Amino acid sequence: MEYVILNNGVKMPILGYGVYQIADQKECEKCVLDAISVGYRLIDTAQAYGNEEAVGKAIKKSNVPREDLFITTKVWISNAGYENAKKSIEESLKKLQLDYLDLLLIHQPFNDYYGTYRAMEDLYKEGKIKAIGVSNFYPDRLIDLMQFNEIVPAINQVETHVFNQQVKANEIMKKYGVQIESWGPFAEGKNNMFTNETLKTVGKKYKKSTAQVALRYLIQRGVVVIPKSVNKERMIQNFDVFDFKLSKEDMDMIVTLDKEESSFFSHYDPQTVEYITGLGK
Ligand SMILES: NC(=O)c1ccc[n+]([C@@H]2O[C@H](COP(=O)([O-])OP(=O)(O)OC[C@H]3O[C@@H](n4cnc5c(N)ncnc54)[C@H](OP(=O)(O)O)[C@@H]3O)[C@@H](O)[C@H]2O)c1
Repeated sequence: MEYVILNNGVKMPILGYGVYQIADQKECEKCVLDAISVGYRLIDTAQAYGNEEAVGKAIKKSNVPREDLFITTKVWISNAGYENAKKSIEESLKKLQLDYLDLLLIHQPFNDYYGTYRAMEDLYKEGKIKAIGVSNFYPDRLIDLMQFNEIVPAINQVETHVFNQQVKANEIMKKYGVQIESWGPFAEGKNNMFTNETLKTVGKKYKKSTAQVALRYLIQRGVVVIPKSVNKERMIQNFDVFDFKLSKEDMDMIVTLDKEESSFFSHYDPQTVEYITGLGK
């Protein structure tokens, strides 16, 4: 495993396992146990995924020492604001059966995320959260939050994959010492990612799949990745990306796949904002 060191000195695995869209509790528990048995130590969940309890059960059953795991969850829009956020974080800790979180993110830059952030800063100071950060904060929201708060977010988790590489946004994050983390490292398979010709051509050189090339590319760019799969063979495949190195020529080929736009939705599109904020009411 390779690691990144966050802006407060916390060590974070560069590859983890995400549990979005694994709503069934039994399935999620099994998946997380499988992922841990494969070697994943970073688990990424969220209040909104409805599976924190399942993740907590799997952590307990795994018998892996707490200090070897890196657990992330996220505060949902409906829990925004100082008091609400604090309460919801306590609930998340209970569901996860943990007494501290390694990383806590604000899931979306909507509702009273200032209040949420200040609750997170307080819990960070109390030692209940080892690192705090944000998700889906594009440069405008990120800079705004940093200008008026004490603690610089350690992480910004944003949609990042070969078709949306976030080069410009990452430059801003680097300027302020914020580590980029990718959600949707495979773009959930959109744009036929798994059969992309460029990724296939590069993969053939190393006897690696398109999925492995896509992850390796992000890792070599210093991006933390949290691929999701419910399939143990794929979990193994996605974990097996540290025994090869893409050449400069490969990297230069893959950079051309960047469309510099979301494969899902834009946080600047009013209809999308209406939809997402509607989910948090
Ligand atoms: N902060 C946010 O707003 C946000 C948003 C989205 C996601 N996330 C986080 O990021 C994580 C990853 O993103 P994601 O789950 O949206 O999508 P993703 O990891 O880009 O893609 C997951 C999809 O790829 C398939 N897959 C996985 N490995 C594969 C392989 N080796 N070969 C072929 N297919 C493969 C999975 O199918 P199978 O499961 O059937 O294998 C699933 O359909 C999430 O789980 C979540 O933790 C955060």
